Amino acid sequence: MVYLTRRERFSAAHRMYIPEWSDEQNLEVFGKCSNPSWHGHDYVLFVTVKGPLPEKTGLVININSLKEIIREKIIDKVDHKNLNLEVDFMKGINATTENLAVAIWNELEKPLREAGCELHCIRIDETENNTIEYYGKKD
Ligand code: NI
Repeated sequence: MVYLTRRERFSAAHRMYIPEWSDEQNLEVFGKCSNPSWHGHDYVLFVTVKGPLPEKTGLVININSLKEIIREKIIDKVDHKNLNLEVDFMKGINATTENLAVAIWNELEKPLREAGCELHCIRIDETENNTIEYYGKKD
């Protein structure tokens, strides 16, 4: 099994909050990321796929195919967007980086399988100090 990681960057606005709670409650639990007037991050997304290595090509997946799938399914939808308001796969979901990682996994799992490899990990760096990793339901 060989693992391949593609790194992409995107900038997006978000707010972490629970609608039923007051602004004060949300700020207490989610801190600055619950600012009612939004704020942004320069996110870094790492998509790791895995697969056996075909003797003929020596490639887990064609890197351009991987890049295109991530661009079409994720980057085009989130870059310079508001994650809470404008991203179809984040509708009704609290825009934590944890939830974002799970949602991105759910968007990419099938198209990557169809492209011949298996999704292994979604990693998102929200800031240089905060990183989230998701390995799918099994972990
Ligand atoms: Ni934030």
